[in-house]
Amino acid sequence: MSVTVRVPAKVNVQLAVGGARPDGFHDLANVFLAVGLYDEVTVTEADSFALTCTGPGADQVPLDRTNLAARAAFALAERHGLGEPAIHIHIAKDIPVAGGMAGGSADAAGALLACDALWGTNASREELLDICAELGSDVPFSLVGGAALGTGRGEKLELLDVGGEFWWVFAAADGGLSTPAVYREFDRLSPDAPEPVAAPALLEALRTGDVEALAATVTNDLQPAALSLFPSLTDTLAAGTSAGALAALVSGSGPTTAFLAADEPSARRVAAALAGSGACRTARVAPAPAPGATLL
Ligand code: C5P
Repeated sequence: MSVTVRVPAKVNVQLAVGGARPDGFHDLANVFLAVGLYDEVTVTEADSFALTCTGPGADQVPLDRTNLAARAAFALAERHGLGEPAIHIHIAKDIPVAGGMAGGSADAAGALLACDALWGTNASREELLDICAELGSDVPFSLVGGAALGTGRGEKLELLDVGGEFWWVFAAADGGLSTPAVYREFDRLSPDAPEPVAAPALLEALRTGDVEALAATVTNDLQPAALSLFPSLTDTLAAGTSAGALAALVSGSGPTTAFLAADEPSARRVAAALAGSGACRTARVAPAPAPGATLL
């Protein structure tokens, strides 16, 4: 028997970062938006544990028990006293790997939901969210999708209303960025970061579906750190802006860059210009908001 779950990528339309906490994490005001780029996670009963991955960047994905999807399965099995999971997890990747779009978190949320269905553990939403929060700061959002404000280290979610559809272009870079390294660079560049707060104008732009207002309010406090570690992203951002994007920003900790377009035709023009500019590896168009982890 096997179960497949589809899980979306995310972009942070606001990522406000405070100073480092005693536990090493940073307090955030993190406005997540799920976007229509998806990984698919299939979990099949097997004789012993195995994990495989196909798709762009699959060679950089760990295939052992350190993979966040494997850790999700083991965590659910342990909570329900099921012993070591005898399953094959297959990840069909489409979300850029190590790209700042929560691909690893998406796979963890997908594996968790798939195992819950396969094993009939019937975990409550609350228990699933608890396990997600233990696995990583972005994992709870991958489960719920849509749009949400994440506080704490990003794992405490308040769902947000979105009043329309937003069209995005995502430019994948050659290479990845390590999230801890980007946060360390943030600490070096911003030693006195103020307490993070969500911007009321940005929440209002999401609520009303006003693309121009959203474009005027998107911010990412990790962007200077990502640009410092990956300087060529400055050219990618400029290429998207000159191609007609209403806003250009680094996605999360990068190095994927995100471009907000006026509508779908405009997004397609921006993507074609970016793809032809040599300033990125690939450019993809995706609408938002997208649903969270979904059983297929
Ligand atoms: O929670 P997650 O495992 O995704 O975090 C990866 C790394 O990113 C952490 O080890 C930490 O260095 C950094 N991080 C942080 N503050 C957050 C979220 C992540 O410093 N709120």
